[in-house]
Amino acid sequence: MLGVPFVLLLVTFGHCHSRSNHTAGYELATNQILDSATSRMRSVWGLQRTIFLQLTAKGKSPLGGQVLNNKQDVEAKTYRLLYELAANLSVVPVAQLDDPLLRRRVQRMAKLQLQGLRPKDYEQAKDLLRQTHSFVSGSLVCPHEDCSAHGPLAMYPQIVNKNMRTKLYEDLFINWFAWRKAINEKETAKSTFIDYVRLLRIAATYNGHVTPSRTWYLHYDTENFQAELEAVVWEIMPLYRELHAYLRHEVQSTYPKADTKSDGAISAPIMDQILSQDWYPHQFFRTPHQGKQHQLPSVHRRLEEVLVTPVKINRKAAEFFESLGLNILTQNFYDLYSRRMQDDEGGPDCKSQVYYFPPDVALRYCPKLDYKKLMQIHGTMAELQYYLYKLQLPFGLDTEPCPGFGAALGETVILASGTPRHLHRLHILLNDSLTEQQSLNRLFRMGVHTLIAVPQYFINDKFLVDVMDGRIGVKDYNCAYWGLQDKFAGVQPPSNRNNKDFDLDFKFYRGMNPETSNTKKFLAEILGFQFYRSFCLASGQYRPGDPDFPLHNCDFYDSKEAGMKMREMMKLGATRHWRDVMEIATGERKLSGRGILEYFAPLFTWLKERNKQLDIEPGWDADELCRRD
Ligand SMILES: *[C@@H]1O[C@H](CO)[C@@H](O)[C@H](O)[C@H]1NC(C)=O
Ligand SMILES: *[C@@H]1O[C@H](CO)[C@@H](O)[C@H](O)[C@H]1NC(C)=O
Ligand SMILES: *[C@@H]1O[C@H](CO)[C@@H](O)[C@H](O)[C@H]1NC(C)=O
Repeated sequence: MLGVPFVLLLVTFGHCHSRSNHTAGYELATNQILDSATSRMRSVWGLQRTIFLQLTAKGKSPLGGQVLNNKQDVEAKTYRLLYELAANLSVVPVAQLDDPLLRRRVQRMAKLQLQGLRPKDYEQAKDLLRQTHSFVSGSLVCPHEDCSAHGPLAMYPQIVNKNMRTKLYEDLFINWFAWRKAINEKETAKSTFIDYVRLLRIAATYNGHVTPSRTWYLHYDTENFQAELEAVVWEIMPLYRELHAYLRHEVQSTYPKADTKSDGAISAPIMDQILSQDWYPHQFFRTPHQGKQHQLPSVHRRLEEVLVTPVKINRKAAEFFESLGLNILTQNFYDLYSRRMQDDEGGPDCKSQVYYFPPDVALRYCPKLDYKKLMQIHGTMAELQYYLYKLQLPFGLDTEPCPGFGAALGETVILASGTPRHLHRLHILLNDSLTEQQSLNRLFRMGVHTLIAVPQYFINDKFLVDVMDGRIGVKDYNCAYWGLQDKFAGVQPPSNRNNKDFDLDFKFYRGMNPETSNTKKFLAEILGFQFYRSFCLASGQYRPGDPDFPLHNCDFYDSKEAGMKMREMMKLGATRHWRDVMEIATGERKLSGRGILEYFAPLFTWLKERNKQLDIEPGWDADELCRRD
């Protein structure tokens, strides 16, 4: 990776301390490098602060050119800093350092992913990511070959939103093809992907990784991490297969024209549709128990009556963490660093944002008021709490121990705050539990949301990694992809395809960016349920075998025991291996599907019985719908 600094550093480290013990000298020189990097980082944080202030200045348009320039400046400066620093640290003789924290800092920052690329390659990688982003969000598609009415549409959010509301299988089918055709005319999508993989491989060689995926999985720091992810997929597969079988049966009544082939796999546009309906209030697929009395109580009206304003929602979410014994957000924070987004910013589905510029942390929140936002703000508050602890750590270790770890902690609070027990505490529900039927309907919706998504994260991640490592060759991309869909998800293409096509879905393209990788999403879900189970056991709110305290209605609000574990993990930042940190909560050092399986146990039981009654056979056989010519 490096050019100049190599020689200079050898000189620095060669400085004569006693021949027999260089430790003190090495540590001194290393600390000097890190101190000077920290002060450069402070100027980047200063810019972040400026951006936050610019965005929240009264009467200013939020998307002014100034902000954009500053954001680009932050990006460029961060890249240069990390790139140089990695080069400088890569010659530090780590084994000679006594201070374990210093050693860890050097190890973490001496290796990089895309940011380890030389400037020209790095620019190209960013260009390619911009291009893949435009596949998803660019206005590219004319579904009916006719763009006269509204002009071309973007996959996200326009087509996704249109799909969500359509009961015509033809529409789903046409949109599915139209988008793929649009982005891969002249093989654009495929060649973008190929170029990008080439850069990922180069980044890996700079780290000395013979297997490129070691760099993709950099901070998981595990030989063959993919095997660990795959083991979890197989662990939850029995539950997935029952849900899959039941959904396949339900699809026939919602979309009679969707040709669910006799082999039992589900057509990809239908699977997308099932997943896109997860937050949709009037979803098409029936929940297990029909009838008005079994419907989930609507929280919307109560939400407006009780929580009234977004500010009040924020306070409630903050209070969740305070009840656990985590940081108390001060009045000063609310006065200076908590700001409402502009109403027109981010659209109806805006996402709150947390800013980190030590010594301060700031929040811009989405002012919408609905159930989804209520849940999401709990995740945002988790991130904010995490940052407050990271403030105490040295630059470089002030991050999560691996990507997705923080989101997993957020997930636990999202799960707890969405329980009837917690909604009752907030006076949004009148009862602290649902009837058995309602409860099952709720688990079913949660199950679709989680269980259908997890294998897709895995497939997208595995495809990328297998290509990167050379296990999938360029001539076989598409059929290999359908092979994975068949093996891990029981999903098939809506009609015959071949290796000239390139059928990956839009979430795959999103996941090409390490910041939003499918690995990270997978980990956040799985680890999230593992943590949730542990916090619930610690708080006594989950008592295995006791029907009054099932895992799916566990609210660990106010539990100092759970809070202590969360705090301890957050405080560590990246100072320890993520397995050491997860062990604090779970007592385990490996990913496992146990949290998910215990959470959804009542759903699993019901599905098995129901499928038997309906004479539905779970599972599928491969039908060769991709021709390897
Ligand atoms: C080297 O020196 C440092 C500090 O002077 C000391 O802590 C360390 O134990 C020494 N290491 C060896 C191997 O002698
Ligand atoms: C890396 O080392 C070079 C040469 O000593 C120095 O000029 C540069 O500032 C260092 N950069 C970082 C980020 O450590
Ligand atoms: C709350 O739900 C339980 C279980 O369904 C039921 O027995 C109880 O009567 C309900 N309480 C109220 C106040 O509705």
